[in-house]
Amino acid sequence: PEAITVGELAKRMGEKGADLVKELFNLDMMVTVNQTIDQDTAELLVEQFGHNIQKVSEADVDIAAEEDVDPEETLKPRPPVVTIMGHVDHGKTSLLDALRGANVVKGEAGGITQHIGSYQVKTKGGDEITFLDTPGHAAFTEMRQRGANVTDIVVLVVAADDGIMPQTIEAINHTKAAGVPMIVAINKMDKPEANPDNIRNRLLEHEVIVEKLSGDVQDVEISAKEKTGLDELLEKIALQAELLELKANPDRMAEATVIEAQLDKGRGPVATVLITRGTLERGNTFVVGTESGRVRAIVNDQGKQIKKAGPSMPVEVLGLGGVPSAGDVLTVVENEQRAREVAEYRQEKATEKRTALAPTSFDTMFNNLA
Ligand code: GTP
Ligand code: MG
Repeated sequence: PEAITVGELAKRMGEKGADLVKELFNLDMMVTVNQTIDQDTAELLVEQFGHNIQKVSEADVDIAAEEDVDPEETLKPRPPVVTIMGHVDHGKTSLLDALRGANVVKGEAGGITQHIGSYQVKTKGGDEITFLDTPGHAAFTEMRQRGANVTDIVVLVVAADDGIMPQTIEAINHTKAAGVPMIVAINKMDKPEANPDNIRNRLLEHEVIVEKLSGDVQDVEISAKEKTGLDELLEKIALQAELLELKANPDRMAEATVIEAQLDKGRGPVATVLITRGTLERGNTFVVGTESGRVRAIVNDQGKQIKKAGPSMPVEVLGLGGVPSAGDVLTVVENEQRAREVAEYRQEKATEKRTALAPTSFDTMFNNLA
């Protein structure tokens, strides 16, 4: 059952809030316009004022509530989304750099990844793989958790010269909680003190049994610095992805998940999103969280503007009304009016929630007076 504030109900009924408060007082209920009343009370009031009750289900207003499953025959294979996890400085960003032949680490402040970077890499066999880099610092745990939700496969990077560290364990737990397959990449094999078998044995303590110890978790020795073992890692990812039979319908209005978003000085609100299904096109109208917008530009992981983006592609979207939150879903809708309608509805709901939580009970008011 839905709760509603007296003020909001008055607005919807086209009556004065004070009149509703008065009526509620007659019913022995002491509430202010900002307080919420339950559905039964609201219905009673509506009847008292001689109005008709019109029930609107959530699905009529909010697309997120719609039952909307793509039929099997519309599904086509899509690239896997792989999240790189692991302890600080174990080499996550270096690994991604090596895979895409770029050099992001040098450009980072203090070499610590502050945000989730996302890139697509093509394997020698021609398969596309989408990679998400997650910050290794403890303060970013929440963001990492969100990263796991859009993830098909986790690559756990463990430095062979270090060991199983707190964030290694955290990553193992997130991966298990998400029910996602994991591939262990034992990094920094170029270092003389590298001891990969020690890593394998220590992983046992966390119930991660790698192939080399007859388990079912794939493991591979790599050096992001010397660029060794990378092809083998890509092969293992492709193999794992094949088993998952990842599919999405590309021929529909797009749906995407916000990976990160910020206010850019020159470009306005910018969101990095991962397309989960459908194809996002320039000019599309959309809602994302409580914001509506119209796609002004789509920028790919190379920084190039593109006209459209399909499933599993990470892209930047420009043309948002405001800055959404990481984890928000971006949904393309048929027109601007619909986008505004849904965004407004969500804003209203968000306000209602805040008001409902505000401490405005009569008891506290009287106590304060006494
Ligand atoms: P955070 O983003 O802070 O969590 O770190 P990260 O896991 O992304 O580590 P990053 O790639 O920034 O690497 C940390 C340090 O380890 C850097 O100085 C790298 O040059 C070094 N490093 C990474 N991979 C290797 C490797 O394979 N061998 C050696 N010798 N050093 C490496
Ligand atoms: Mg990093």
